[in-house]
Amino acid sequence: MSPKLPSPLFPWLILLTCASLFFFYSSVSLFRPFLSTSRSITVPTSSSCNLFKGNWVLDPNRKPLYDETCPFHRNAWNCLRNKRVNMSLINSWKWVPESCDLPRIDPFRFMGMMRNKNIAFVGDSLNENFLASFLCILRNADEGAKKWKRKGAWRGAYFPKYNVTVAYHRAVLLSKYQWQPKQSENGHQGGSEGIYRVDVDVPADDWVNIAGFYDVLVFNTGHWWNHDKFPKQKPLVFYRAGRPIVPQLEMLDGLKIILDSTVSYIQNKFPSKTLKFWRLQSPRHFYGGDWNQNGSCLLNKPLEKHELDLWFEPRNNGVNKEARQLNLLIEEALQGTDIQMLDLTHLSEFRADAHPAIWLGRQDAVTIWGQDCMHWCLPGVPDTWVDILSELILNTFGRTTR
Ligand SMILES: *[C@@H]1O[C@H](CO)[C@@H](O)[C@H](O)[C@H]1NC(C)=O
Ligand SMILES: *[C@@H]1O[C@H](CO)[C@@H](O)[C@H](O)[C@H]1NC(C)=O
Ligand SMILES: *[C@@H]1O[C@H](CO)[C@@H](O)[C@H](O)[C@H]1NC(C)=O
Repeated sequence: MSPKLPSPLFPWLILLTCASLFFFYSSVSLFRPFLSTSRSITVPTSSSCNLFKGNWVLDPNRKPLYDETCPFHRNAWNCLRNKRVNMSLINSWKWVPESCDLPRIDPFRFMGMMRNKNIAFVGDSLNENFLASFLCILRNADEGAKKWKRKGAWRGAYFPKYNVTVAYHRAVLLSKYQWQPKQSENGHQGGSEGIYRVDVDVPADDWVNIAGFYDVLVFNTGHWWNHDKFPKQKPLVFYRAGRPIVPQLEMLDGLKIILDSTVSYIQNKFPSKTLKFWRLQSPRHFYGGDWNQNGSCLLNKPLEKHELDLWFEPRNNGVNKEARQLNLLIEEALQGTDIQMLDLTHLSEFRADAHPAIWLGRQDAVTIWGQDCMHWCLPGVPDTWVDILSELILNTFGRTTR
């Protein structure tokens, strides 16, 4: 866990009004150190609470903040509509950090704080999963939310009551990549042979024009770095400054270079007042085989702590080991930057019970693609990601705008 991680100090305090907070801060000397940082975007590094470490506790009274009618769902993750069994059980688990309580997002208060501000997710479908949860939750505060798709966004929503935009820019490798068919001898292109050219130093078009527009950014990449997405016969070939890198790089070495160049691009191009997060890997939960080997995730409760290493520790060589492997590379690339790690991996590792599994909304989906033990049911685990992200955002904007 990096010391750069922000954590809220006594989050229940945040529930008080600004006035009483001000009074409280100015009268309790213990809090003075944090008042002095109120002009800066830096969040306190030491805190009694690490939101990323804790346990899932069953709370039968817990209810989701939205249902299957939310217009921002994606069909395959709309587990209520798809009649996934035990959805109320899945949503009865509450994440409880070790030394404090994680408050649930109050959409009205959050949107009030975010007035005239914009938030974006950039990355792969797991960030879209995150976005869908966020939009459905925020819609509670503004039912007039409208679909929004500009500046290269794949999808998003504009909340007119607050003048807030929250969007997702799809860029699965973050860098630009394109299919390049092999040229045959007579100069004709075509056929199925070729390569995927990746320009490690060129961000994908989808997010190249967003600097300055968003106040909060959440990056991720991860789920495309494997030979299922890019088979060996159609490999990723990495280019820099317009030329192929020689010797050719293995996939994960290419990822390392992309991480470094993306991180320095972000540091150079985005204003320092933009709050930047990098979400660590969302773990998959295939049991008994990988996705294309009848792997399954029909579990009725979260994993126990002692089971996690068995599922995810790279040394155990299980089918789900890549999350922790990729995290090591990401953590290395983020060292010394102002991009904060959103370490949602550990809390999500427990939740083998919370994927769409076989309830995908289409009869033939499982036959074709196997179970989905990678994305998350909504409502579900990403709602907890939203609680954490919103808490960290308010930690910054809540203080700077006071
Ligand atoms: C809405 O927010 C944008 C910043 O995202 C700002 O430039 C614009 O002036 C705001 N519009 C209104 C009507 O407040
Ligand atoms: C998956 O299950 C089907 C049906 O039970 C079976 O025909 C197939 O061989 C299995 N595939 C693998 C890779 O185990
Ligand atoms: C639903 O959860 C209950 C309680 O854990 C379990 O007994 C049941 O088998 C679950 N149903 C399915 C289809 O997983």
